[in-house]
Amino acid sequence: MAKIFMNMSGGLKMPAIGLGTWQATDETELEKALNIALEIGYRHIDTAFIYQNERVIGRVLNQWISSGKLKREELFITTKLPMHGIHQDRVEFFMKKSLENLQLDYVDLYLIHFAVGAKYVEGFPTLDEIEFQDTDHIAIWKKMEEQVDAGRTKTIGLSNFNEKQVGRILKSARIKPACLQVELHVFLPQHKLVQYCQHNGIVVVAYCPLGSPAHNKFIATVGLPERELPDMLNDSIIKKIGNKHKKTAAQVMLRYLLQRNIVAIPKSVTPSRLKDNIDVFDFALDANDMKSLDKLEVGEEARIADFKLFKG
Ligand SMILES: NC(=O)c1ccc[n+]([C@@H]2O[C@H](COP(=O)([O-])OP(=O)(O)OC[C@H]3O[C@@H](n4cnc5c(N)ncnc54)[C@H](OP(=O)(O)O)[C@@H]3O)[C@@H](O)[C@H]2O)c1
Repeated sequence: MAKIFMNMSGGLKMPAIGLGTWQATDETELEKALNIALEIGYRHIDTAFIYQNERVIGRVLNQWISSGKLKREELFITTKLPMHGIHQDRVEFFMKKSLENLQLDYVDLYLIHFAVGAKYVEGFPTLDEIEFQDTDHIAIWKKMEEQVDAGRTKTIGLSNFNEKQVGRILKSARIKPACLQVELHVFLPQHKLVQYCQHNGIVVVAYCPLGSPAHNKFIATVGLPERELPDMLNDSIIKKIGNKHKKTAAQVMLRYLLQRNIVAIPKSVTPSRLKDNIDVFDFALDANDMKSLDKLEVGEEARIADFKLFKG
């Protein structure tokens, strides 16, 4: 009913629940959370150059690997080419930077973070410093393929690309995208995109699977006005289904994705939530539950990650 691992093209297995780390920038908090997560069985970690936490993650992973508590092969690590690296001349540079930060010889999955690239600035650009430029997906993808050839990543994929953009890459790729990471949750179930990807052997990874309740905290840090966001964790139907199975709303939302063969990467730095979010393999939603959850679809209006915050 729900797979613990999702088979990827190229033979890799991706753990179906991963740990999201966006907004996890407090070093002490993240270090503690990562140690707990690894203790309780998380083996899949999702980060990105732009999250500014690769170094902390690298430090913790290094402690686990060098002490013999974990083998590198047991882990699945994803990181992403940042917006100001989305250019054919900068793929290798940023890939190497992420590996250095993570203290790893290779990652399992390297994603192009966005469909549009921006001009290079050193370090981490502020919103004001982001200046979009023409982006040649095909040329960039060739450089991504070279990262696999060089052994720096086991596989490659896309994030925030639409069906048409994925299709263009599929047509010309020597190494097909193994994964598409997009916003996906009960209110924005993305049925058409999921069907397209799964038909083409692309594993779909859902970000904001719990509705990203702290999203407005980020909006405030970039000086933009708060937005009214959907509150799925308190939705009465989701909670009712949870009560029936003695599970939380969060667990129902994650299980809903797993039963659609979608990988979920909930972020948490709270020990009890870390435990809840991975404790989703001992129950099953029945056909009626799935139908009720499908009916909660809101569509685009429920989209949380609003990239219109970038100028242009
Ligand atoms: N590719 C992209 O462009 C992109 C965009 C956005 C996100 N992502 C990735 O996807 C991951 C997940 O997305 P997200 O972080 O935006 O949203 P999310 O996972 O839907 O929500 C995370 C928030 O929910 C809280 N939370 C976690 N578990 C909970 C539970 N069981 N009950 C109640 N609250 C809970 C967390 O708080 P605490 O941490 O305080 O517990 C955190 O504030 C990110 O961390 C990142 O790795 C990728």
